[in-house]
Amino acid sequence: MIETLAPKAPDPLLKIIKMFREDPRTDKIDLGVGVYKDATGNTPVMRAVKDAEALLLAQQKTKTYVGQQGDVDFLRLVGQLAFGEMSRDFVSIQAVGGTGALRLGCDLLRESGAGRIALPQPCWPNHPAIVRAARLEPVEVPFFNIADQRIDMDTLIAGLARTGRGDAVILQACCHNPLGADFSLEQWKTLADALDARGVIPFVDLAYQGFGDGVDEDVAGARALLERVPEAVIAVSEAKSFGVYRERVGALYVKTAEKARAAAMSNLAAIARANYSMPPDHGAAIVREVLSDEALRASWREELDRIRAHIKRTRAALAAERVNSIPMHLIAAQKGMFSTLPLNEAQVTALREEHGIYMTDAARINVAGLREADIPRFVEALRAVA
Ligand SMILES: Cc1ncc(COP(=O)(O)O)c(C=O)c1O
Repeated sequence: MIETLAPKAPDPLLKIIKMFREDPRTDKIDLGVGVYKDATGNTPVMRAVKDAEALLLAQQKTKTYVGQQGDVDFLRLVGQLAFGEMSRDFVSIQAVGGTGALRLGCDLLRESGAGRIALPQPCWPNHPAIVRAARLEPVEVPFFNIADQRIDMDTLIAGLARTGRGDAVILQACCHNPLGADFSLEQWKTLADALDARGVIPFVDLAYQGFGDGVDEDVAGARALLERVPEAVIAVSEAKSFGVYRERVGALYVKTAEKARAAAMSNLAAIARANYSMPPDHGAAIVREVLSDEALRASWREELDRIRAHIKRTRAALAAERVNSIPMHLIAAQKGMFSTLPLNEAQVTALREEHGIYMTDAARINVAGLREADIPRFVEALRAVA
């Protein structure tokens, strides 16, 4: 039977990564890969993470399984960081990265009777795949105009009519991937009211806390929404905020009525048990150590502040440039690592083939991948194609 399987197309980003690697030009620029890069083009291990790992190495006495829920101190500390006091009432479970949390959340929603998940477009390209893998139907809802780089709330809310009571919508909490365009506080409140009125459950995806305006600022909107709705599902990834990508650090939180919490928890445990049984420990233990130790926490905050300042400087430098049809000035107001430029596939191909500048086919650029010294050449290339 296995021999009858048809091959699947590889992730388009992997194709770009391969082409970049094989490009012999020494002045090529990689804006494709979605990891933070410092001014020298590296993705270093954060100092606080290294220190926490040293502590773990010295102190860890066993490698026996962590419990079914995962590291409960990690869950409490991450919950507090993301949602403050209200997190005490959330059901939580550790997950295999933010992706694993998204999948757990989708499985839970399906178990609770959801059929469709709205995905404001464009979305993170893995969202539809996760939704489908959980046997839910992804519903594409337009919400962003790439040409003028603006969120269209009316279109988004009108599009939610295609979901029903008990269905959900995935909303990125901050530093939207691939747009960099975040909802304002007012827009979060408008969304909360619209979702509450329709009985549609917000599924918040928080993957870049601290990369936009600050650790608290980045979650202010999502907190306002979570305060206003009776039920919500939230997937958290700490891959970026702690630079622990490969350690697969994530968690799922669920807001529901007190009487429903035990059942929600037992469903999550059953889903996880049949999937990977117990979560991995190391990455969550690192994050727990960093957040629970005052000095490590301060060191982490300081390094995160520098990461954010670096991204903001690059955004400001790009926004100061004028490029024909691209509203460059709006790039400064956008948040986090990504922006999506109004370029068609032919323009993206020309940038790659003629200028050695790599981005995704949908023209998403990783702002953090752009070194200061490369900005003039990047802007010149944009002017040549746009
Ligand atoms: C919007 C968004 N959500 C979730 C994730 C998942 O992150 P991970 O599974 O690496 O923790 C990512 C990673 O790129 C992302 O961009």
